[in-house]
Amino acid sequence: MVKFEYSSGILFYKHVNGKRLFVVLRRGRSLDVPKGHMEKGESAYTAAKRESFEETGIEVEPDRYFRHQLTYWFYGKGERNKGETVRKRVTMFIAEAPASAEVKVSDEHSSSEWLDYESCMKVMRFKQHKELIRHADDYINRKQELEHINRNYAKLAGMEGWGLSRNFVPGDGPCDAEVMIIGQAPGATEDEALRPFVGRAGKFLDSLIRSARLRRDSIYITSVVQFFPPENRQPTKEEIEACLPFLKRQILVVDPLLIICLGKVSALVLTGRDDISNVHGTVIPIKLLEVGIGCFVTMHPAAGVRFKKNVGQIKEDFSKLEGIMRKLKNGNPKE
Ligand code: URA
Repeated sequence: MVKFEYSSGILFYKHVNGKRLFVVLRRGRSLDVPKGHMEKGESAYTAAKRESFEETGIEVEPDRYFRHQLTYWFYGKGERNKGETVRKRVTMFIAEAPASAEVKVSDEHSSSEWLDYESCMKVMRFKQHKELIRHADDYINRKQELEHINRNYAKLAGMEGWGLSRNFVPGDGPCDAEVMIIGQAPGATEDEALRPFVGRAGKFLDSLIRSARLRRDSIYITSVVQFFPPENRQPTKEEIEACLPFLKRQILVVDPLLIICLGKVSALVLTGRDDISNVHGTVIPIKLLEVGIGCFVTMHPAAGVRFKKNVGQIKEDFSKLEGIMRKLKNGNPKE
């Protein structure tokens, strides 16, 4: 009989003098990352925070979106699983600790070390641990890059004659998402929440995402213009031109397999097509620098919220996404 067990943990990292260091825990000759068994009724998130605190004494909030699954088999020797074949699934989170953070190891481990990427690759024995650290390192690089772009983007609001809101609404989602959704510009609700698509159009978008069997927390969501145009007016050509270079850099960092363009403005700036009525529900290949990306074009969900007659068409477009994603993933060299 195979027994299934579930664990979770947090890979802590910190930056010291510009160098990124990951925490590893030592027990005898083996090295591990902070993780442990999920108790009955516990979520992966709660168990990860509890276990990693018990094993390191570090308590910091994990990144909202990073997830990495480790799966392996072993022959049980402990109280819980003696003599059984166990299939273990571990959900790993990442969290940045302050540069001054120090580890207080529990009785389970003999010592800990903060190691840079190269050292981790040298000393970690398990391929799965190396893959986790490789994934985390790449994700953190993208996260830092997006933060850098956004810091400069937000400064646009200080420009003379600025006509948009001064609140910058950054994109939201995993920095390495396979799908990116790009709308037109935030509305008043987003301007207040500083998060994209949280108003009425956002609620409708959530239901469309679910209908396509996607998860909102696996998608990077943003807009062409990332500041609210007062009175919900259309952004001007000049405003779009000022914002576009930042959007393009964000796309290149996230490097999605598919971009979903919501509405006329998004479709036009990304694909050059202004005839949504002809191209909706299809994927238009584009090139950004030398990177090829597919753009799926559909109406903006706000058009469905405002005019019920559009709802059927938008839903039908979204129903095609599951098949499109399957095809794209099959041709994805990352898989
Ligand atoms: N519409 C958009 O295009 N973007 C948002 O963030 C919200 C509504």
